Amino acid sequence: MNLKNCYNFDDFRKLAKKNLPAPIFHYIDGGSDDEVTLKRNTESFSKCDLVPSILASVGEPDMSTEVLGKKIKMPLFLSPTAMQRLYHHDGDKASARAAEKFGTFYSMSTMGTSSIEEISNISGGPKLFQLYIHKDQSLTDNLIDRCKRSGFNAMCLTVDTVVAGNRERDHKWGFTTPPKLTLKSLLSFSLHPKWSMNYLTHKKFELANVSHFTKKGSSIAKGVMEYINEQYDPAMGWKDAEYCIKKWGGPFAIKGVMSVDDAKRAVEIGASAIMLSNHGGRQLDGSRAPFDQLPAIADAVGGKAEIILDGGIRRGTHVLKALSLGATACSFGKGYLFGLGAGGQKGVEAVLQRMQEEIRRDMILLGCKSVKDLNKSNVAFR
Ligand code: LAC
Repeated sequence: MNLKNCYNFDDFRKLAKKNLPAPIFHYIDGGSDDEVTLKRNTESFSKCDLVPSILASVGEPDMSTEVLGKKIKMPLFLSPTAMQRLYHHDGDKASARAAEKFGTFYSMSTMGTSSIEEISNISGGPKLFQLYIHKDQSLTDNLIDRCKRSGFNAMCLTVDTVVAGNRERDHKWGFTTPPKLTLKSLLSFSLHPKWSMNYLTHKKFELANVSHFTKKGSSIAKGVMEYINEQYDPAMGWKDAEYCIKKWGGPFAIKGVMSVDDAKRAVEIGASAIMLSNHGGRQLDGSRAPFDQLPAIADAVGGKAEIILDGGIRRGTHVLKALSLGATACSFGKGYLFGLGAGGQKGVEAVLQRMQEEIRRDMILLGCKSVKDLNKSNVAFR
């Protein structure tokens, strides 16, 4: 199996599974508790069907959209994800370069393994920074200031991870960062000598954006979940979000909004976008799927804020259904991380290539000239 014969999410996932030591594969693949929400995020797209228009003289469809202050060439971008250095030795750099090639947003996590500055040096493409509020307020200020200086275009604040979700696969597989050599993980690492060799011979693992503030960030002896529980501020509230929006002063999304009231309040405090997300089913299990919640959110804040649907995207048709119901754009995490694990930058490019082809083909089949034309009449619920 190689990148050329990966046609869809399941294929990239299989190849990543083959390449990555089990604790690392399961860290990407898993959700919290019983993984009910993780599964539902994708299943919910099947509740409605696309209704094509015929003889619509589509020609070449326009896939571009404007979101977070930038025009992007396709209505799908890379969600922020932590610790990409573990999935491939080029980590965030590989993702940022691939996104730039496809004219779409790369997003950097506070827990990225390249620094804000490194990424801004290698990519001129659209860049979004994802903020976590640490207990140490000066760290938050520092991150915002550095993003401004480095030419990041937009920012999002994650609000659904004030404590770590219960990811039982990580306990079972002994996932720690950097990877710890226990007997069980040693077996898994020795079964993946190429990954292990690359891990050991490339730049040392570090959470490059926070390591100068918290010693723990440069070499986390504990699991990532313990890092979250120690460092993030569980008392974070609306005032903190408002502070960040004002300090940034540019396109700003609140990531992890699910309720209508919260969406309205986010707009009131100045957020220009809502990221409708449950953290890929990795936090509160049993929480609602973003796609199920989309119509209510679009009714409440559509036209006042951009809506980014994040969660469960596996196919071009999922993106088109979300756009029909009021999303401005979609983002995905696991989808491209499996590409990264499967083949670094080339793997992420292969994923984006497949998704771009699917969105284009599906738009033509749907009779849709421009993503801006998509509306409720393009879908019907069963
Ligand atoms: C995650 C957090 C760290 O792994 O964003 O889901």
